[in-house]
Amino acid sequence: MSRGDRPARQETARAAGGHAAPRIALGVTGGIAAYKAAEIVRGLTKAGSEVHVLMTAHAQKFITPLTLQTLSGHPVLTDPWEVAQGPDIQHIALARGLDLLLIAPATADILAKLAHGIADDFLTTFHLAVTAPVVVAPAMNVWMWEHPATQANLATLKQRGVRIIDPGVGELACGEEGIGRMAEPEAIVAAALQSVGRGGVKKKPRGRLRVAASS
Ligand SMILES: Cc1cc2nc3c(=O)[nH]c(=O)nc-3n(C[C@H](O)[C@H](O)[C@H](O)COP(=O)(O)O)c2cc1C
Repeated sequence: MSRGDRPARQETARAAGGHAAPRIALGVTGGIAAYKAAEIVRGLTKAGSEVHVLMTAHAQKFITPLTLQTLSGHPVLTDPWEVAQGPDIQHIALARGLDLLLIAPATADILAKLAHGIADDFLTTFHLAVTAPVVVAPAMNVWMWEHPATQANLATLKQRGVRIIDPGVGELACGEEGIGRMAEPEAIVAAALQSVGRGGVKKKPRGRLRVAASS
């Protein structure tokens, strides 16, 4: 079976006359914006998605797995060497039934690893096993963002069909000004839901943007 032959989970559910909640894996990496992953998990679950969080070792220095486990309602996956439950290897089992891999925040480091197919922790190994769409929301210092290596990695990922949610311009956590701030959690949630065919960005009467799940 080639990568393109794996049946999409939503299609299988639709064919059976059913309707599956979108299953989204959220990869969290080691940037200062990692704390915003909590808001992303809440936004996705509120919109009816099933969210499984995967964290790199560095991400756990910024936010605890317990916080994201509590908000998502599922164990946070961090260690590929943890004994799998049942006969399945965890990262393969989750990848099989996935609708989207979202990585937010995405460090310069993870962009490089994704671009080059490195698989040295749970998240990067999982990425290679995933056949669902991949969306990344980079966040980093302006000079890291503008470095030719980062830009080349982004170009590789785009060419491969990865959707990049561009960072915004403003004051960065490091105190410098420029591009590199992660997009707002609300916009990331909207992009993720759109990628799984559930998104709709509706305007509230008072003009604020709101993410709505469609059926
Ligand atoms: C306080 C602090 C903040 C950091 N913020 C960022 C960041 O916003 N973006 C980034 O690309 N790297 C950032 N880094 C560097 C990453 O943590 C480092 O490159 C690490 O290897 C990333 O690992 P990971 O991609 O496996 O999570 C930061 C490091 C420290 C100590």
